Amino acid sequence: MKFKRSDFPSDFLFGVATSAYQIEGHAQGGAGSTHWDTFAATPGNVVRGENGDLACDHLNRFEQDLDLVRDAGFDCYRFSTSWARVMPEGRGPVNQAGLDFYDRLADALMERGIRPCATLYHWELPSALADLGGWRNRDIAGWFADFTEVIMGRIGDRMYSVAPINEPWCVSWLSHFEGHHAPGLRDIRATARAMHHVMLAHGRAIQAMRSLGMSNLGGVFNLEWAEPADDSPEARKAADLYDGIYNRFFLGGVFKRAYPENVLKGLEPYLPSGWQEDFDVIGAPVDWCGLNYYTRKLIAPADTAWPGLTDVPGPLPKTQMGWEIDPAALSRFLIRTAREYTGDLPIYVTENGMASPERKQDDDRIAYLDQHFSAVQVALNQDVPVRGYFVWSLLDNYEWALGYEKRFGLVDVDFDTMKRTPKASYFALKEALA
Ligand code: FCB
Repeated sequence: MKFKRSDFPSDFLFGVATSAYQIEGHAQGGAGSTHWDTFAATPGNVVRGENGDLACDHLNRFEQDLDLVRDAGFDCYRFSTSWARVMPEGRGPVNQAGLDFYDRLADALMERGIRPCATLYHWELPSALADLGGWRNRDIAGWFADFTEVIMGRIGDRMYSVAPINEPWCVSWLSHFEGHHAPGLRDIRATARAMHHVMLAHGRAIQAMRSLGMSNLGGVFNLEWAEPADDSPEARKAADLYDGIYNRFFLGGVFKRAYPENVLKGLEPYLPSGWQEDFDVIGAPVDWCGLNYYTRKLIAPADTAWPGLTDVPGPLPKTQMGWEIDPAALSRFLIRTAREYTGDLPIYVTENGMASPERKQDDDRIAYLDQHFSAVQVALNQDVPVRGYFVWSLLDNYEWALGYEKRFGLVDVDFDTMKRTPKASYFALKEALA
């Protein structure tokens, strides 16, 4: 890597991120069925129909995995808790083995001197709640607050930081409008409701954790820079709407207690009645803001119903995902988020990384990370309070609808033997962080 730890402020935190369903092995340990299990079991949704049944078998190998986190010199580990592992039906009875697992994980992190940074929900909704309408049902905010109390009642005392929901745009728009993630819907009313309820659930969980006396609570948003495909006013308008739907809706809900006008124009008829009354909960004060950043999109108008836009292929170099590499957009996002939404609040890059087919000498990943660390420095030099950065991801893992084909790990996983082998990027980071 081109940077060293000393190039960053002395209290800057370096971390690495994972999520429960992508690594634990969901078929083990008494977890309940989730909408990702049934989505994956339905032909056409996931590459080769793969699921998270075994994933990286992290449930049985977490000690070894946390040794890797410690040995690389990371300060923090961002992980998520599986709702259905803790409460197999989403409500009611608790699976003690599930709670015990997260308790041991928290202890194992503390023993290694690694700060535990939890996300309560990273996409595997218990099937029993999906049957009740899932994110379309307003009651999910209360169910989620109950789950929050159960899991944080057990491990909250050891958490360095907690965020309720990973990437509200993915939970709602990607999964209910585009249909690419579970539950695989393509319905604008379902989408509008999911978008609002995910915000409400975020706020309820923040309130529940405050009642438990917890602090250092935040929100994690995935941002994608929207660039007009050409100079026309139509392209500019389309990019602005993409930005509204993808980025400003969720940041706006939490930090401005309002949704952007251009998004309301299309979505308001489908929002649940009384949505305007919910912003005291949605905007419950948080202590930090997390940004997940991977790419930008070129946006053009399209001759369809609202939102009437599409993305077109761009000229920049691409990762194995086909995502354009644009580190400058990360700087712009950090600066814009602080100026327009979060002010002095600490900002963390809670995910950034790339998929690469290179399983050993992943020089492309080293270059990608280098460029994005420089992009963080650009923002720091403009006094943006960026306080930390988490690489996605520790291990090659279950990359959702793309199955096990796309490898994001600093550490290679052989999915036949479960053998872990650190890649060149792991060693490069270790040296930079020493
Ligand atoms: C993010 C997700 C994470 C992983 C990366 C590549 O949107 O939070 O689980 O899939 O993308």
